[in-house]
Amino acid sequence: MNVVRKDIKRGHGSETRQLAGELWALDTYPDHPAGKETGNYDPTYDRIEYSRYYDVEFARKEHEKIWMKSWLMACRDEDIPNVGDRIPFNVGRVSFIIVRVAEDSFKAFYNSCLHRGTQLCTKPESGTHFRCPYHAWEWKIDGSLSYIPSHWDFKMVTPKNGALREVKIGRWGGFIYINADPDAAPFEDSLGVVPRHFEPFDIANRHTAAHFRRLVRANWKLNQEAFMESYHVVGTHPNAIPFSGDTQSQYDIYDDGIAHIGRQLTPGGHPSMHADDAVTTAEAIMGAVAFVRDMHHPDAELPQIDPDQPVRPQVADWYRKLETQRLGRPCTLPDGILIDSPLYFVFPHTTFWLSEALPFFYRFMPHESDPEMSYLEVRMLKHHAAGTERPKPSPCIEIGPDEWIKDKAPAFGFLAAVFDQDFENLPNVQNGVRSADPQRHYAQLGDYQEFVIKRWHEVIDEMIAE
Ligand code: FES
Ligand SMILES: [Fe+2]
Repeated sequence: MNVVRKDIKRGHGSETRQLAGELWALDTYPDHPAGKETGNYDPTYDRIEYSRYYDVEFARKEHEKIWMKSWLMACRDEDIPNVGDRIPFNVGRVSFIIVRVAEDSFKAFYNSCLHRGTQLCTKPESGTHFRCPYHAWEWKIDGSLSYIPSHWDFKMVTPKNGALREVKIGRWGGFIYINADPDAAPFEDSLGVVPRHFEPFDIANRHTAAHFRRLVRANWKLNQEAFMESYHVVGTHPNAIPFSGDTQSQYDIYDDGIAHIGRQLTPGGHPSMHADDAVTTAEAIMGAVAFVRDMHHPDAELPQIDPDQPVRPQVADWYRKLETQRLGRPCTLPDGILIDSPLYFVFPHTTFWLSEALPFFYRFMPHESDPEMSYLEVRMLKHHAAGTERPKPSPCIEIGPDEWIKDKAPAFGFLAAVFDQDFENLPNVQNGVRSADPQRHYAQLGDYQEFVIKRWHEVIDEMIAE
């Protein structure tokens, strides 16, 4: 499905404020597929009917045709480290249990007792069996039936037909995905370019170093769309303009009809075309470096930059050395992964940052029952030092719709206040789509910078129509 449009201007830069792709081409440590492989599909969808952000019937269709048929990120393997550990994963009102059944093997089941439906797992727990709290039916962790009190009264339930109902499972990079559709395409086919582009990033061996989940008063798509373009930086995060090349971002869609992958590549430490003319590249990069140093290496000296030489390789070398020291093994990541913000969006609900400075993972989820609410869960995924034990994952901090990330999850450093700026917008967006003139009841997307949002709505339409 290759579609490349010739009529689109792909970003706005200048000779000294280059586009993301131009910067990656100039980098001295650039040998990486993320810098070479551009997208193969340019979406055209440009008007989003607002009712899909609140209509109950639309949300019901999404649940049935998207959430119950897509590969969904349920948890990370580090969340259930020992055999018998399990965790519930809720998708709307439907719940699944993810359990570690052996050292390196996992299963997922519908979280519903085969007797009268009681949920079998409502919180992270551990054990050799699932025991229903109501009438004490029991299953082994592999899902096989092991005990029914007064079995003489349930002769119709046998080991053959009494196993817990399993759903498909997929694993990549420490993430455990499930799919409730027995006819789903193989998990590996849903990730497209992502495993190849994340090859040297080694996301599997990272641990969750910080973690929160924020309840948001907005539909899950509005919530996700607030993190799918850097066009909003000038309006929402004006303080980032001097060191974030928002207008120079590159957007790619990698799509083969099965894997729907969006990519946003925003130059870090690079003055935006919106920034004052006097801001130099050296100033921009030093502004960004100070934030990253404070978050990951608070004791490190800032680099001494020669402003007459290209600054990106100097900063990248400084950062590679710091990481090499911290990890006790060589850090060999390319310049762009150390400096920029390459974000990979995997349909329908996950975002992976291919960034050592901002090593984040996002999971968006609809609310259990209200289409005008949703969740964003954010993990910071870091490597631990060679020869040390992998740290336990940081527990998830639950954050309410009126609370601030900077108060509840300060480990996210300067990004905590940035998230707060995004979350402040979202209830206004939800209320605004409700307030539009019925004769002009749609969002008008840009030609280029909102590519990923466009593609997501195309896929949503395709799936709902099936
Ligand atoms: S509902 Fe589970 S044992 Fe009765
Ligand atoms: Fe933002």
